[in-house]
Amino acid sequence: MKKSAALHADFQPSNFTFRDLKKVEEILSRYPKGKQRSAVMPLLDLAQRQVGEDGAKASPPYGGWIPRAAMDEIARIIDVPPIKVYEVATFYSMYNLAPVGKYLVQMCTTTPCMLCGSGDIVKACEEKLGIHAGQTTQDGLFTLMEVECLGACVNAPMIQVNDDYFEDLTPDSTRQLLDDLTHGRTSSHGSLKGRKGSMALSGPTTLQDKAKKIGVV
Ligand code: FES
Repeated sequence: MKKSAALHADFQPSNFTFRDLKKVEEILSRYPKGKQRSAVMPLLDLAQRQVGEDGAKASPPYGGWIPRAAMDEIARIIDVPPIKVYEVATFYSMYNLAPVGKYLVQMCTTTPCMLCGSGDIVKACEEKLGIHAGQTTQDGLFTLMEVECLGACVNAPMIQVNDDYFEDLTPDSTRQLLDDLTHGRTSSHGSLKGRKGSMALSGPTTLQDKAKKIGVV
């Protein structure tokens, strides 16, 4: 599901400056001279992370998103019309164009996750947090979002919280995870059933010698 493109989100700071100018320079240096416009995506990501860092310390907290002023600043830096930056930011679903909660919970409901019970995971999230997909909790901690395949189908059902994947979920482990996040406890990510990578639930069934050698069994 494409996130809503709220270029006119209610809250828009009037200006934006990058804090880490060295990082901006490093990103620009990845591209050949004259092709700095290619830096648009990593600069959007950097802006979103900077806003998220500020939001984590705010009260109430909020998560990473990209104000329009940040897009305009990026357009200035890479010397393109602002619309060129808006086009990229509104196309890709990983860029948030309106404030989100400190924890952005993206619930995959595409076919493999759906067949493995994502409906129950969505229900567990909605009941635990008291909100529906597309909404943010009043305390600013969580935004729920229903998304398409996140590429971890082999360990379905799964959700993504900010940068981390939580896989092999059950309604109980999902509730526990949300509880941990609410109380500031760290939760291990990846498979919550202890699978390494995409190995079978019964453990590796092929190439066992190699698996032993690299320490996954
Ligand atoms: S279908 Fe959910 S991760 Fe692919």
